Amino acid sequence: MNTTPVENRGRWGSNLGFILAAAGSAIGLGNIWGFPYKASQSGGAAFVLVYVLCVALLGIPIMFAELSIGRASEKSPVGAFKKLAPGSFWWLVGALGVLSGFAILSFYSVIAGWALGYIFKAVGGAFAGGVTLDESGSIFGAFTANKSMMILWTAAFFLLTILVVRGGIRGGIELASKILMPVFFALLIGLALRSMTLPGASEGFWFLFNADFHKLTPKIVLDALSQAFFSLSLGMGAMITYGSYLSRGQNLPRAGVIVALADTAIALLAGLMIFPALFSQGAEPAGSVGLVFVVLPTIFDTLPAGELFAVAFYILLVIAALTSSISLLEVVVSYFVDELKWSREKSTWLLGAACFALAVPSALSPNGFLGIMNKIFFDYALAIGALFICLFVGWRWKPAAAIDELSAEGTRFPGLKFWGFLVRYFCPLVVAIIIVMQAYTALRPAAG
Ligand code: TRP
Repeated sequence: MNTTPVENRGRWGSNLGFILAAAGSAIGLGNIWGFPYKASQSGGAAFVLVYVLCVALLGIPIMFAELSIGRASEKSPVGAFKKLAPGSFWWLVGALGVLSGFAILSFYSVIAGWALGYIFKAVGGAFAGGVTLDESGSIFGAFTANKSMMILWTAAFFLLTILVVRGGIRGGIELASKILMPVFFALLIGLALRSMTLPGASEGFWFLFNADFHKLTPKIVLDALSQAFFSLSLGMGAMITYGSYLSRGQNLPRAGVIVALADTAIALLAGLMIFPALFSQGAEPAGSVGLVFVVLPTIFDTLPAGELFAVAFYILLVIAALTSSISLLEVVVSYFVDELKWSREKSTWLLGAACFALAVPSALSPNGFLGIMNKIFFDYALAIGALFICLFVGWRWKPAAAIDELSAEGTRFPGLKFWGFLVRYFCPLVVAIIIVMQAYTALRPAAG
């Protein structure tokens, strides 16, 4: 074949295809499962407000940073830093990203596997006739205690992810996103409308939007920031990688803003799907991991066409997870393709299998190993990655160069100078403070 190396890497077929794929990466379990659960833990609206601020002041600027690094270098994270800062150690930031992607995918797939299993439970009528909170808890307990099934569901989800990623950028990731994202949007809007028109739904609405500032604590700020990075797929080079397959015809800042707004809107919409339904059934928004796997099943039956609601909901969850997991695997695969010159086919299967092996302990111990992995990578790795990405753009590559890349399509945003200030000073400072606070609050109970 006489393709040039750049063509071998692959490219997005269209601007819209890229936006759907990037939005697909951002919109995931973090939005549907994580955001409502974190919000319920942190008293609802106060968390929502801080979260939105984190997205606007830190998320969007860092999104621009990642996309510009990706497109300027046309490389996946390790190669990108090597190309933009040759002979330095900055490539280690990319390496941390590849490692984080591998680790996050391992536990992400376990939870996605639960959702996959729950589609079949719902179809089989496990929640028909109504289940109490206790019953639902034991259904979930028995489900996750069945070790061989846990491994099987995780493996099944890995297989789905691998099958998409091996198809490449245009024929795999973009194609899947173009088909799955519209289905996802339709399901979510349908379910949210259904939920919001239930009697008593307004209580759920106010739970999310009536901010009570007395509930604002430092912990909420820490949680909101980690959640924002995770939800926007930032801090580990996923957006560097996706940006590297872009042409200069794409208006980068606009794409970044669209993706961030879509991600935030979907998180809020997920809240509007879950909380009104909960409150309308008089259920408390339990601040537990079990919100979507334990509490929701108790209300499906009380909803009109509840069976359908249940099946649709878990299908939606799997779609959301799949368009995200492919971006996690893609970061790892693209490193092997770009730097080690492996074929995509070989990289996808081998790395998918290796990551599955790392997923097994999480699948077997959702409260143990999975919790530890989540703690390390969700609370720290992404923030540390994001910090170094800001430092790189702000101090090494320099905002002026990044702004040239961001405006390559021809439109110069007046706000880009302000963006330069944010990545150079504001974002690294705030993220560094948050990392230190995160470590401090984690260590404090042990100290006293
Ligand atoms: N953003 C996804 C979610 O909300 C998860 C995800 C996909 C991710 N790719 C990522 C998180 C890269 C961090 C980095 O579920």
